[in-house]
Amino acid sequence: MITRLAKADIRIGMFVEAVEGAELSFGKRRFLLESDGDLDAIQASTAEFVLINTAFGADTAKARIAAAKDGLKKSLSPEEARVKASEVVARSTRILKAELIAIVTGGAFDKTKIAPVIDEIVEADRTTSSLFFEVSRLKHKDETTFQHSLAVGTLMGKLGDALEMDKETVELLVLSGLIHDVGKLTIPQSILQKQGPLTQAERKLIQMHPKRGHQILKQYAAIPEEALDICLHHHEVLDGSGYPSRLSGSKIGPLVRVSTVCDVFEALTSARPYKHGWPVADALTWMFDRDHLFDRKLVTRLGGVI
Ligand SMILES: [Fe+2]
Repeated sequence: MITRLAKADIRIGMFVEAVEGAELSFGKRRFLLESDGDLDAIQASTAEFVLINTAFGADTAKARIAAAKDGLKKSLSPEEARVKASEVVARSTRILKAELIAIVTGGAFDKTKIAPVIDEIVEADRTTSSLFFEVSRLKHKDETTFQHSLAVGTLMGKLGDALEMDKETVELLVLSGLIHDVGKLTIPQSILQKQGPLTQAERKLIQMHPKRGHQILKQYAAIPEEALDICLHHHEVLDGSGYPSRLSGSKIGPLVRVSTVCDVFEALTSARPYKHGWPVADALTWMFDRDHLFDRKLVTRLGGVI
């Protein structure tokens, strides 16, 4: 069956019959869309719509994910798994970036666009072990907030899974990780990426990101209360020295604790313009030794899933 889709909805695995109104190189070609390069070229073209043939390729993101799932389960070599994970990271980052920028600039929150990212993270993480490392490896690029969000979402899903949380909660954790730092997009890049020490005023500004993110996200009815809570409180720590509300102990709920542990671990282990990433073991030990800040049980479980 031939279906006409907006170009933003085109996915790897679909069979392209025609790219309407695009440059000649795409306009007359029929092909199975297999590479990120071709997908990027379509997205960057002047076309608005693409005709796909569902008899020869996937028709929806779900179908593509199911196909990818099958493919992954059928014995990928470590190198193939790494490449696959790398593709998931690149694609997810692109979607996440577009969606988070749309949210911050007052656009709609389109759950249907983020849902495939969540599906892919949850699935890729169960079938390959390299997704988190792929995200970390790509961190040197100038997209720190998006890559960090993706890595934290991935880690939160992994940890939720290890804690035997149900599928809905695991997906909620991934979503919360993807959007937890959206408030950072309102902070000037020059401060976020500053190489030297921050002034007090700059630190105060950065510390406003949970409240700013929460203010932005609470306008969207589709965002669950737990995800709002994680956005607002992911920098709270057990002894009450965190921000913005200085919550302590039992006032910090279990899902927020998952976010805090994953957020700090990810920040410690990833390279930033001003620092090297710590080795995993060093980061876990550092956190384990600070049980006045972090839930030790969660740090231990996190060590088991990395
Ligand atoms: Fe944050």
